[in-house]
Amino acid sequence: MTMKASDQLGAKFILFGVFCLFVGTLQGFLQSTPRLRHWIHSTGQAGHLVDPLAHAHINLIGGVVSVVMAVVYYLLPRLLGRNIASLWLGYANLYLMIAGVSGFYLVLLTFGILEGNRMLDGGIVYPLARAHYQPFHKIGFVFSALLMGLGHWVFVANVFMTYFRREPVVVTSQVTSLKEGSKVP
Ligand code: HEM
Ligand code: HEM
Repeated sequence: MTMKASDQLGAKFILFGVFCLFVGTLQGFLQSTPRLRHWIHSTGQAGHLVDPLAHAHINLIGGVVSVVMAVVYYLLPRLLGRNIASLWLGYANLYLMIAGVSGFYLVLLTFGILEGNRMLDGGIVYPLARAHYQPFHKIGFVFSALLMGLGHWVFVANVFMTYFRREPVVVTSQVTSLKEGSKVP
């Protein structure tokens, strides 16, 4: 069976999306346990980074959005009868999502846990615990959020370029006519 190059890209998005759902639901399961619920409620804004922020984004962006992107890369060429405008941008989209989503998740989870434990151990408020990990917390957050944002926008650009691209249909039919020996209209 021949496979479009954009189908292979779609399959990679599905693999990444399902992996994110695995990690996100594993976290969901863990954070439902009484011990972790207690930790999350006692650590306020630090706990908020772990649940819901890290959990929601790995499931929704990593899982749901990636699978939506896979569906678009599979369906759009079939609905429009033409290839995706740029396979290169498609792969840029994939790697930006992988780097952005993983980075965002790890930054939220790591600093959430470190700052939460620091609050509890030192009996201090969130801003003090957070200040201890600056500027790393801020740089990690902004950088990974930017990669994720860029991943989304590259996708949007590729879809618009595919939809509005002018197909060289006329040229193709002329070449065919020439081959067949008939006059160019
Ligand atoms: C085994 C699967 C899952 C478990 C056990 C689970 C568990 C949880 C728990 C315990 C919370 C915290 C609720 C609270 O603070 O009151 C939560 C929040 C959340 N979960 Fe999950 N989750 C799972 C899968 C998912 C999936 C697949 C998605 C999205 C596709 C998702 C999206 C969210 C969101 C958006 C929130 C935040 C909701 C809010 O702040 O009100 N979860 N989840
Ligand atoms: C570049 C992309 C994105 C970035 C940088 C981003 C960042 C954020 C931030 C900083 C918050 C925190 C608000 C707060 O509690 O102070 C938030 C909340 C949220 N975002 Fe995103 N987001 C992005 C895309 C998305 C997408 C695509 C979805 C859904 C498919 C989503 C779902 C949510 C949800 C459900 C919450 C609320 C969580 C809660 O507090 O219960 N986000 N996001």
